[in-house]
Amino acid sequence: MFGFFNKKTATLVGVDIGSSAVKLVALSREKREITLDSYAIVGLPPSAIVDGHVQELGVVAEAIEKGVKICGSKLNLAITGVPSSAVIIKHLELSNAFSEAELEDQIKIEADQFIPYPLDEVAIDFEVQGPNPLNPDLNKILLVACRNNDVIQREASVNSAGLKCEVVDVDTFAIERLLTYINKEDVTGDDLIASIDIGASTMTLNVMHQGEIIYNREQGFGSNELTNSIHIQCGMSVEEVEQSFRLTEISMEIEAMLIEPFRDTISQQISRALQFYYSSNVQNQLTKIYLSGGCSSIKGLVELLEEELGITVELTNPFSNMRIQAKINKDRLNKDAPVLVKACGLALRSFDE
Ligand SMILES: Nc1ncnc2c1ncn2[C@@H]1O[C@H](COP(=O)(O)OP(=O)(O)OP(=O)(O)O)[C@@H](O)[C@H]1O
Ligand SMILES: [Mg+2]
Repeated sequence: MFGFFNKKTATLVGVDIGSSAVKLVALSREKREITLDSYAIVGLPPSAIVDGHVQELGVVAEAIEKGVKICGSKLNLAITGVPSSAVIIKHLELSNAFSEAELEDQIKIEADQFIPYPLDEVAIDFEVQGPNPLNPDLNKILLVACRNNDVIQREASVNSAGLKCEVVDVDTFAIERLLTYINKEDVTGDDLIASIDIGASTMTLNVMHQGEIIYNREQGFGSNELTNSIHIQCGMSVEEVEQSFRLTEISMEIEAMLIEPFRDTISQQISRALQFYYSSNVQNQLTKIYLSGGCSSIKGLVELLEEELGITVELTNPFSNMRIQAKINKDRLNKDAPVLVKACGLALRSFDE
């Protein structure tokens, strides 16, 4: 069985391997207070991660290593995540009379029925979540399965960077942990909280109810579309476009000609994703949307979405309830915070009770 549910022993640095950049977040906790100790964002060439798979392990490892140096502090143990699209998550109910070994065997039999790959190509882990309240003889079991290769490549990238990868988590669980953490007491039983992350290549919608992600959908859409059209139409290299995003130095002309229409495209993509969500089950209206990922910093997007969707939309600040280490530049952090959501959700695993 694999280590999705490994119990951690020490503080883990969260490593989010995105298609355009790796992000590192290092947290620490004293009593109940969590501190952001350091973070790093290091760009990756487009060839390093393709369709969510690590293609150039050495390049990814080098970027993580650079991130460790930027963080400056002594980092050792790490946690990374596999995208939800690479994972099959299944809720099972099995007899509580099984011994541990019998349970593992039974789970392999169950897994074989719904995993479309040979079992020896798949990493499997499970967590016993307690008895079914309606039938206490059955235990509720959360089963996670992922192609070995996706787990091994990500783990190896982290280990090759000089860290020790203690846990390979699932991105969805990291988002669930983060939304729970930033909402704390604010969520009532009926609230449906959505997280929409739009990165360079992928847009992900997660909906959480009572602390659990109940809906997840990923689609291929992100800032690469915008970057490419600026590259083609304005004669800038992709690196120059990325650099001008980082420095928030976009000309008014590009803003009007390409970014404003792209903002409308994002709004349409989100509306469509929400239609899928609403038609997938008889859920109530969403209470709030948290926006994250590189595209979330597009000027006016939050306001446009609120107007078009009629729902409260907020940029995600994963550190809103945390102390910030004095050496961290607060203005820079404010800009970077929405892209650090996944890395922070991963790092929060260190403090799971
Ligand atoms: N102000 C901005 N306007 C438009 N795009 C931006 C802006 N700032 C950053 N970006 C884009 O956001 C991207 C980085 O976002 P993020 O770090 O969330 O992506 P990622 O996690 O690497 O990608 P993915 O999650 O899709 O694999 C950059 O490639 C950049 O093109
Ligand atoms: Mg991302």
